[in-house]
Order: sequence, then structure tokens, then C-alpha cells
Amino acid sequence: MKSIQVGLIGTKFMGRAHSNALAQVGHFFDLPRVPVMQIAVGRNTKELASFAARWGWRQITTRWQDLAEDDELGLIDVATPNDVHAEPAIAMLEAGKHVACEKPLAGTLKDARAMRDAAKRAKRSKTFVWFNYRRCPAVALAHQLVAEGRIGRVYHVRATYLQSWGGPATPMLWRFDKGVAGSGAHGDLNAHIVDMCRFVTGEELTEIHGAVARTFVNERTLPGTKKKAKSTVDDALLFLASLSGGGVASFEASRLAAPHQNANSLEANGSKGSLRFDFEDMNLLHFHDAARGPREGGWTRIVCTSSAGKHPYAGNWWPDAHVLGYEHGFVNMLADVLRVLGGEKPVVPLPDFEDAYQTQRVLEAALISAKERCAIQLSAVK
Ligand SMILES: NC(=O)c1ccc[n+]([C@@H]2O[C@H](COP(=O)([O-])OP(=O)(O)OC[C@H]3O[C@@H](n4cnc5c(N)ncnc54)[C@H](O)[C@@H]3O)[C@@H](O)[C@H]2O)c1
Repeated sequence: MKSIQVGLIGTKFMGRAHSNALAQVGHFFDLPRVPVMQIAVGRNTKELASFAARWGWRQITTRWQDLAEDDELGLIDVATPNDVHAEPAIAMLEAGKHVACEKPLAGTLKDARAMRDAAKRAKRSKTFVWFNYRRCPAVALAHQLVAEGRIGRVYHVRATYLQSWGGPATPMLWRFDKGVAGSGAHGDLNAHIVDMCRFVTGEELTEIHGAVARTFVNERTLPGTKKKAKSTVDDALLFLASLSGGGVASFEASRLAAPHQNANSLEANGSKGSLRFDFEDMNLLHFHDAARGPREGGWTRIVCTSSAGKHPYAGNWWPDAHVLGYEHGFVNMLADVLRVLGGEKPVVPLPDFEDAYQTQRVLEAALISAKERCAIQLSAVK
């Protein structure tokens, strides 16, 4: 087993989720590469030192540029706000590193395109994007069932990602600043369900028929002050689309959907069956097999925790129905990243920069559709 030294940029929410995955993955998976938590990058030295001590990072630096100059590092993990994805990711690719980047690929299509192009140029580097929900066993199983033809032709996808951010009480964060985040609920939440729709159905979105974006909370308080700052992103964005197989799809993202907390859900209805997933019950996949007929048809509730390995990833964890949580998706994804870096196949496909760029095109098309109040063909968004 060969080791691979990892550098992490960003040490807060995703920095913790990824550090946990790096620390756990070798305990649960047999892999061709073992990650070494070598160096963490942050902006505040005191906070960074305590983060590194807690999670087991060997070194720290406040300059992400140091990582490109370190020949020993193999994989760089980018877990910074959306406007700090392109520059470090491209620099790392040019330095010959493999790069795993958080989603959305970038705040803007221009940045995402530059990252996709850099990945194409860097022939020896592999890229990955943390669309972690693909690695919930139930979502991976949905992907497999669709690929096996179990729901037949996909007629209709309904995807919603609803959260509750507590309205105006939530202070001004980078996530409410268009210049940093690119968009609001859209880039944050629709990014996940567009990726999930593409992943589960294996189809592309071909046209956005209409979209509506709305900001309900226009001002927020700057943390630690009484000063107000303008929120420049959408709080909710909804759109309708066509799929490449001829089906229709709807997407809804909202940060003001109390009492939903992290209701990331997708339903797909096809000619032979249907599937339904909701992250708030993430161990469950609901499956309807139309062949059972009107007498016995209806939703079957599958608990996707088979310790005998019948469900993707579940066999690496606990006994049947000893359920998994949010962090396991990241560990499962990291296991696949390390498999690929060791020349093996992932359990289900991993999104790379090219793949995430296709999701970014959809996000851009929906933004244009909302702004121009018209339909947008995906072929027109490059
Ligand atoms: N996959 C998921 O489910 C998921 C969930 C949350 C966030 N995200 C994504 O992860 C990324 C980070 O989000 P987060 O919630 O962890 O944000 P966060 O605010 O919690 O953390 C951001 C980190 O980046 C650091 N940072 C910012 N600018 C930097 C710079 N110039 N150089 C070095 N470090 C810098 C900050 O100091 C902080 O440590 C975003 O792209 C976000 O969309 C993904």
C-alpha cells in the first residue's frame, strides 16, 4: 500500500468534514493509497494551529501557494468559499497535483470553465468534486437501479433542496455575497440536486423552460457589529427543465423553507418504476416496481444498510440497519478517490471537473432564464 500526502485548503465546515474523512477512511476501507494528513492551510494562525492539533495535520501554513511548491504533496483538497476555488485548483494542477474541490465547481461559469480547461491540460492529474450525496448508499443504489433499467424510461424527475436559515436573524456570511458565492440557494443547493439528477438518471439537462429567483432578506447584520450589509444572492430559485431522454424535471432550492433543515430530495418516475430519496431519511430508498401491478404496487421502503454488501458502501460499515450519517458520504467518496488514485475503479462514478462543469452550465442557464424571463437551450451556454 502506497501513501499519498494530502494538503487541505480551508478549515471550517468542509475542512472538518474532509479531515474527518481523511482520518476515518483507512479504518473502514482497504485501499491502494493511504492518505497522510500533511499540511493544512488557513488564514488565522492561532485557529489553524488548534485545528491541526485536533485533527492530526502535521504542518500548517497561511499561504496556499506553499502547497504548489511542495513536491511531496500528491492530493490537494480545496474547501474554501466559491471564489477561492479556481486560483488554487489551477495552480495545483499546473504543479502536477491531483485536486479534489468542493462544490459548486466555482461561483461563476467563467471560473468553472478555466478549471475544466486546466484539468484537461494537466494530463497526469486527476480531479474530483465533492458532490458527496452521490455516496449515500441509497443514492448510489438509485443510480445502479436506473442503470439496470429498473425504472425504464425516465418520464419525470422532481428534485427539491430545502433548508431553513432562520431568516433575517442569520448574520451576513460570505454565502450572501454574490461576488464570493456566485449565487445563493441556487449554487449552494440546486448544484447538489442537478448533480444528483444527472447522476441518478444518467441523462443531461437539455433546456431550462423557465426559472424564478427571489431574495426575501435584503439586508443582514455583519457579525460582531450592528452594521448592515446588503445580501446580493437569491434566497430561493426554482426552475423547470427537459432531460436528454425526453423526460421533464423540476428543481427547487430554498433557504427559507422552515421547517425543512436539510431536505435534499429526488423522485424519479419512469415507465417501469419509480425511486424516491430524502436526505433527512438518508438510509432509505423508496422503490416502486410497476411490474407488481396495481394490486401490490406502491412504494417499497429499502433500508440501504446491507452488511452483506448488497448496498453500495454499506458493507464497509456496521451491521444491518445500524444507520449511517452525513459524514459517511464524505468517507465513502474519499475511499473512491483513493481507489482511483491507486488505479482501481470507484464503486459508482466520481464527478471530475468536466462533469461538474456540466452541472455549472445548468446552473448558469437557470440564472439567465430567471434574469431574462425566457427559456434557455443548454447548447447555447458554453
Ligand atoms: N459538499 C457539501 O455538502 C458542502 C457543504 C457545505 C459547503 N460546501 C462547499 O464547501 C466550500 C467551503 O464552504 P464551508 O461551508 O466549509 O465554508 P466556511 O466558511 O465554513 O469555511 C471556509 C474556509 O475557507 C477559508 N478561506 C477563505 N478564504 C481563504 C483564502 N483566501 N485562503 C485560504 N483559506 C481561505 C476560511 O478561513 C475557512 O477556513 C464552499 O465551496 C461550499 O459551497 C459543500
